[in-house]
Parts: sequence; structure tokens; C-alpha cells
Amino acid sequence: MPERRPYVAGNWKLWGTRAQADEYCRRLLTLLPEASRRPADVGLCVPFTALDVCLELLKGSGVLVAAQNMHAAETGAFTGEISPAMLVEAGVQSVVLGHSERRLYSGETDRALQEKVPAALAAGLQPILCVGETEAEREAGQTERKLRHQVGEALVDIADDRLADVVLAYEPIWAIGTGQVATPGQAQEAIAFVRALVASRSEKAATRVRVLYGGSVKPENAVEILAQPDVDGALVGGASLDPDSLARITAAAGG
Ligand code: 13P
Repeated sequence: MPERRPYVAGNWKLWGTRAQADEYCRRLLTLLPEASRRPADVGLCVPFTALDVCLELLKGSGVLVAAQNMHAAETGAFTGEISPAMLVEAGVQSVVLGHSERRLYSGETDRALQEKVPAALAAGLQPILCVGETEAEREAGQTERKLRHQVGEALVDIADDRLADVVLAYEPIWAIGTGQVATPGQAQEAIAFVRALVASRSEKAATRVRVLYGGSVKPENAVEILAQPDVDGALVGGASLDPDSLARITAAAGG
């Protein structure tokens, strides 16, 4: 089975002025081991206005910088949007797509993601595609149905040989920002299911694709979750706002 390098990404959400980004990046670099000795890839998903600050300070550090959203189109009458080429021009390497907060508050749809995921890949950006069920869906036994729908819709136009270039993030909505982290067993079960969905398209891609867990990950619970065989890393919200916590979660990926 090919080795999947763990990936720990901090999602700042609506946090991070340019001054805060500057201070954060400088501090993070003092806390992380050099790239070749890190047990995981590390990334930061930051607001558009902080992208260039992070890119400049993290240049050569191996820390990836991602945007938190993108439009699928290159140009057009879409006020307030940012295109894949604009992100690439800015030097951005990756983009979060389909976060549940964008689905909930900003009308992000599976239909739009069907265009955004291929558009990101075509531009040379690594998409981090978020999926996950609500508490009501879990209680109604609908978790797998929801995941099948979200993963299937978003990846339908991705060629089999590009599937492993997408990073998937399983983020149960009931665990986001609630302190109610999924149990290691729940995370493993759902993520193994997401991997099986990829396997139904391509066995080879399924062994290579990275599937992260997100939802109330903290240094205190990261070791157990990241030790699960199918969990390839973490997408960290609140705890990532402290660079020390993000560095400790990264260390936890080493066991
Ligand atoms: P929290 O870690 O704050 O629960 O957020 C998770 C998340 O949504 C990361 O994208």
C-alpha cells in the first residue's frame, strides 16, 4: 500500500488581519521542525487579504498556503468572487472547497462544487473538499447517504487518475466548533467509508487519496484520532488560531 503522508491544515476561517498573519507565521516557524523532520505536511487556510503575507513569510518553509473559497469561472459578472487563475497568480497552492460553513451561510451547492473541484485541479491548485453530516442526519442513520451524495457529486467530473490529487476532509457538522469531537472510532468509520467511495471509482486512487478529519481537533485529542488507519490528518479550526496548538497537532501526526 503506498504511503500517505499525513497532512495537518489550520483553517483560520474569519480570522487573521495582515498584522495577525504576520505575527502568526513568524511564531509558527519557530515552533515547527524543519520540513524534512516534520511528521506531516502543514498548511494554512487563510483569508484572501492575508494570503500574500503568509506566502511571503512561509516561502521555502514547506508550509502550504490555501485560500478558503474560489469561483469556478475565470472571469464574468460574479461580483466579489476570485478565480482559480487569480489564486495561482498570487502564488497560492491550494483551496478549501465546500466547507460546511460556506454551504450553510453562503449558499455553496454540490452543483457549484462539481465545477469548482475540476477548475481548481485544472489551474494547478490542490482542492481540499469538505464533506460531512449534520447531527440530525447522523441520528437518522443518514451519514453514509450524505457522504455518498456529497463525494459523488463533487468528484463526478474528475478523471480517475486525478482523484488522488484531491484532499478530502470529513468534517461532521455536529463536531465543528462544538468541542464535541468525533470518537476515534466514528472518525475512522466515516473516513474509511469516504475512501471506499473513492475506491468505487479507482482502487489505486483510494490507496493514495488523503482523507482528513475535522471537528474540534485539539492537541489533547489529536494523537488518538490521527492514529486511526484511514485518518490521514486533520483540518483544524479554532485550535489552529494558536500556532503552538497547530505545531503540537502536527507533532501528534508522528504518533
Ligand atoms: P473546529 O476545529 O473549530 O471545530 O473547526 C473545524 C473546521 O471547520 C475546520 O475546517
